[in-house]
Amino acid sequence: MSVREIVTIGDPRLRERTRELERPELASAAVQALIDDMIETKRAADGAGIAAPQIGASLRIAVAEVAGTNRRYPYKPPIPLTVVVNPVLEPVGDELVAINEGCLSVPGLRGEVPRHLRVRVRYLDRDGTERELLAGGMTAGTFQHEVDHLDGILFCDRADPHTFSTWEQFDRHHREPFVRRMEALTERLAAEDGGGS
Ligand code: NI
Repeated sequence: MSVREIVTIGDPRLRERTRELERPELASAAVQALIDDMIETKRAADGAGIAAPQIGASLRIAVAEVAGTNRRYPYKPPIPLTVVVNPVLEPVGDELVAINEGCLSVPGLRGEVPRHLRVRVRYLDRDGTERELLAGGMTAGTFQHEVDHLDGILFCDRADPHTFSTWEQFDRHHREPFVRRMEALTERLAAEDGGGS
């Protein structure tokens, strides 16, 4: 496993629509090593997720993981290590939520992106098994952000430019109200999920 250089905005490789993998290619040593490098690179950079184009591979693979110690996004709910191959994302319901995002490929910038509140993701895991997950709130936002990368879309394409800020100005002016709003959302989603509705 090795930590790879992260491709940054302006590099055309971030703007391609990546291609699907067949199971034999997914099982190959080269692709399995690529997945290991994505995990290693994401952890070294303390991202919430990473997509293959961010290390220069034009393939439909993304990784999400938020551990309790994430320094870039300490307020994000935990996500166990999840490798999604050929993900297909589908909104669940019509509700949108504005999520303040950043990206390892867009250094220094943050902004508010309208995201589906709840999504279903169908994908292959790294062993080629078909899986499905449901995600809500910030976790749903993370999966939407990563799947966007596979279509050559960056968060700043979808953000309201009036909400752009540096990380420093986010901390100074926007972080507290945003985190309060997200905490209320997380509580609401937990109540809804626990309410049997
Ligand atoms: Ni990103």
